[in-house]
Amino acid sequence: MPATPSAIPGGKTASGERTAPGVRIGGLTVVYRTPAGELPAVSGVDLDLPPGTITGVVGESGSGKSTLALSLLNAVQPPGRISAGSVEIDGLGDVVALRGEDLRRARGRHVGYVFQAAQNSLNPLKTVGRQLLDLGRSHGVGDLRALVREAGDLLGRMGLDGARVLDSYQHELSGGMRQRVGIMFALVLNAHLVVLDEPTTALDMITQATILRIIREVHEERGLTTLVITHDLGVVAEVADRLAVMYGGRLVEQGPTRQVLGDPRHPYTRGLIQAIPRLVGDIGEARALPGRPPTLATIPARGCVFRERCPLRMDVCESEHPPAVAHGARLVSCHAVEAVTAGARKEQA
Ligand SMILES: Nc1ncnc2c1ncn2[C@@H]1O[C@H](COP(=O)(O)OP(=O)(O)OP(=O)(O)O)[C@@H](O)[C@H]1O
Ligand SMILES: [Mg+2]
Repeated sequence: MPATPSAIPGGKTASGERTAPGVRIGGLTVVYRTPAGELPAVSGVDLDLPPGTITGVVGESGSGKSTLALSLLNAVQPPGRISAGSVEIDGLGDVVALRGEDLRRARGRHVGYVFQAAQNSLNPLKTVGRQLLDLGRSHGVGDLRALVREAGDLLGRMGLDGARVLDSYQHELSGGMRQRVGIMFALVLNAHLVVLDEPTTALDMITQATILRIIREVHEERGLTTLVITHDLGVVAEVADRLAVMYGGRLVEQGPTRQVLGDPRHPYTRGLIQAIPRLVGDIGEARALPGRPPTLATIPARGCVFRERCPLRMDVCESEHPPAVAHGARLVSCHAVEAVTAGARKEQA
C-alpha cells in the first residue's frame, strides 16, 4: 500500500482508520463558451453521494455526464467553467474553491479518476510502470516498490499479467487492456473517492462483467465512495446502489437503483428502459425513444428540458422548470409525475 496521505478525506473511526467520504453537489452549473455565448452543459445539479455507496449516472450522449464527473475534481477545462454551485467532499471541503497545489494533491491521492476513453490517455513514450512511478513520485509516495506491487495485484485481479503490462508501452496493449490500466491508476493511490467515467466501454461482455465485479469488490474492501458514469443501463443495474438519470444537463430522476429501474417515474427514465433491446425474445419489443437529445444550442433555457420528446407534455412544461419532488426515497423532476405514478399503479393492479 502507498504511504498514508496526511490530509485524508472522510471521517475517521475511533481506531484512526479512514472511512468513505460523503459528497454533496449543490446547485452545480457548468457552462461552455460557444459562438452563441456561454451555454450550460450542467444546470443546477443537486446530488449527494452517501459515504460507502456506488452511485451511477446515466443518460444519452451529450447529457453532461462527463462534465459533471470532471467537476468533482474541479477539472473542467476552458472553454468550460463551473459558473455556480459547490462540490463538498468530506475532508477536502468545497473542491470548486480549491486551487493550485491543493487541487493537484486532491486529484489522484484523494479522488481517483478514470477519464472517459482512458484507453487513449496513456503516455505513448513511457511504459505503464514508468508512468506509475511518475505518478507515485508526484504524489510523494514513499514506498514505490509497494506501489508497484499494488498495481500488479490490481491488474492481476482484472485478469491481466501485471508484470508484463507494467513493462509494456501503450501500443503493445489492446483497448480493453488499456482501459483496465486506467482503472488500476484510479485505484492504486488508495483514494477513497473514485470516479469512473465509462469504465467498461472498450470491453467485451464477459470482461465487462468481471471488471464490474472487481470494482464492486474493491469498493467494499476499501470502504470507498464511488461514482460510475455510463450510458449503459446494464452497467448501473449491475454495480450501482443509487442511480441518477441525466438529460440535457439536468438530473431528472434519482434514487435507489432498484426503484428507479424497476418502477421509473420520469417519462425519460421510462423511455430509456423501454429502449433497451432484450437479449432474448422479439427485438421489436424495444421501443426507441423518438427524437434526439438536445445539444448545448438547443437545450431550452426555460421549462422542462425533456418536453420536446415527452409523451406527457403539458402547457406548464413550456414555461416552468419542474422542481425535484420527493417520491418515497427518490427525487423526480416532472410536472406529470402524478400521471406516471397513477399509470404505474394501474399497471400493477
Ligand atoms: N470543450 C467543450 N466545448 C464546448 N462544448 C462542450 C465541450 N465539452 C463538452 N461540450 C458539450 O457539453 C455537453 C455535455 O458534454 P459531456 O461530454 O459532458 O456529455 P456526456 O454525457 O459525457 O456524453 P457522452 O455519453 O457522449 O460521453 C455536450 O453538448 C457537449 O457537446
Ligand atoms: Mg462522457
